[in-house]
Amino acid sequence: MKIYQFPEIYQDWIEKRLGSLHYTLRQPQKLAAAILKASDLYQQDDSLSPWQDADFRAAYYCYFFPLNYVRSLKAIDEAKQLGFFHAQQKYVDYGCGPGTLSAALRDQEIPMKSLVGTDHDLSLKTDYLALSHGSFDPRGKTIPLKGKTLLASYVLNELKEPPAFWLQADSIFLIEPATHQAFKKLLAFRDQLLREGFYLWAPCPHSFSCPLTNSRKDWCHDRVHWKWPQWFADLQSHLPMKNYTLTMSYLIASRNPPPKLNSVRIIGDELKEKGKSRWMICQNDQRQFLSFLHRQGHPPELHRGQSLKSVQGSPKGNEIRISSKEDIQF
Ligand SMILES: C[S@@+](CC[C@H](N)C(=O)[O-])C[C@H]1O[C@@H](n2cnc3c(N)ncnc32)[C@H](O)[C@@H]1O
Repeated sequence: MKIYQFPEIYQDWIEKRLGSLHYTLRQPQKLAAAILKASDLYQQDDSLSPWQDADFRAAYYCYFFPLNYVRSLKAIDEAKQLGFFHAQQKYVDYGCGPGTLSAALRDQEIPMKSLVGTDHDLSLKTDYLALSHGSFDPRGKTIPLKGKTLLASYVLNELKEPPAFWLQADSIFLIEPATHQAFKKLLAFRDQLLREGFYLWAPCPHSFSCPLTNSRKDWCHDRVHWKWPQWFADLQSHLPMKNYTLTMSYLIASRNPPPKLNSVRIIGDELKEKGKSRWMICQNDQRQFLSFLHRQGHPPELHRGQSLKSVQGSPKGNEIRISSKEDIQF
C-alpha cells in the first residue's frame, strides 16, 4: 500500500499567502475556525467557493489545497500506470482554483506540451501561475478542448451539470468528493461519456452499468493513505474532523481505448465479520464481494482502490470465495 505525502516545499508558499490574509500557520486555532466555517459551507449542496472571503481563502490554502493535492496523487498514479498521459499532452484545468491538480501533475513530472488553467474567479490567476507554472486563460467555456485533456478536480459538485463543451476533449480526468451526492453526478456523466463513444480507463474495469447505480448505501470511492506534515498535524489538533486517511471519487476516460485493464477492482474496505472477511469488488454490473474464511488463515491484504488482474474462487450468492492469496493474480 502506497503512502502519499504533501511536499514540504509548499509550506513557504502557504505561509506567504496566509500572511497576506492576516493568518499564519503559527496560529492554528484561528485557522481552524476558518476551516470549520468553510467546511460547513461545503456541506451545503452546490455551494460555490467564495474566493473573495478572506477566511475561506485562508482555509483553502492551508487545508483544502493540501488535502486535494494528496488525493489527486493517487488518481494520477493510477492514470500513469495505465499510460494515460502518453497520448495527449495538452491540459486544460477547468475550475483550477489555486492550481491544486495542475501542481500535482507538474510535481509528478507528467510530460506536458501545454497546461492552461481557467476559473470563473479571475483572482486565482496569480496563485495558479505560481503553483502550476502553466498559463491562465479567462475564457472558460470557450477554450477549445479538441486534442486536449480536460482536468477538473472538485468542480463538478459546484456545477448543475457537466458543461457540454467538456465533451469536445479527447480525454477527461475528474476528481470529486467521496460523497453519495457527488458520485451520482459522476455516474450520470460516466453514462453520458459512454454514450458519446468515450472509453473508461479508471476506476471502472468494465463498461457495463456501474454495480452501485441503485445502491442506497454504497458509492464508489477510493481511499488514500498519507503522511501529513507537522504543521498540518497542529492544525488538525484543533479540528473535530481527522484526516488520517483521505477519500475521493474519480473518473478517467478517453476517446482512445485503454490498454488491457485489470479485470477486478476492490471498491470497499475490508469488512471483518464473524469468521470471515469480505471486500466489495467491481468486475461487471453486479454488486459482489470477495470473501475469505478466517479458518483458512490470515486474510490477504487487500485495499480499497486496488486493482487485481483476476480472481479464481467459488461463487456463493453475491460472494466469490477465495481460499488463499494464490487465488488472486495481482
Ligand atoms: C472546490 S474548488 C476546486 C479548485 C481546484 N480545482 C482544486 O482542486 O483545489 C472549485 C473551483 O471551481 C470553480 N468554478 C465553479 N464554477 C465554475 C464555472 N462555472 N466555471 C469555471 N470555474 C468554476 C470555483 O471558482 C473554484 O475555484
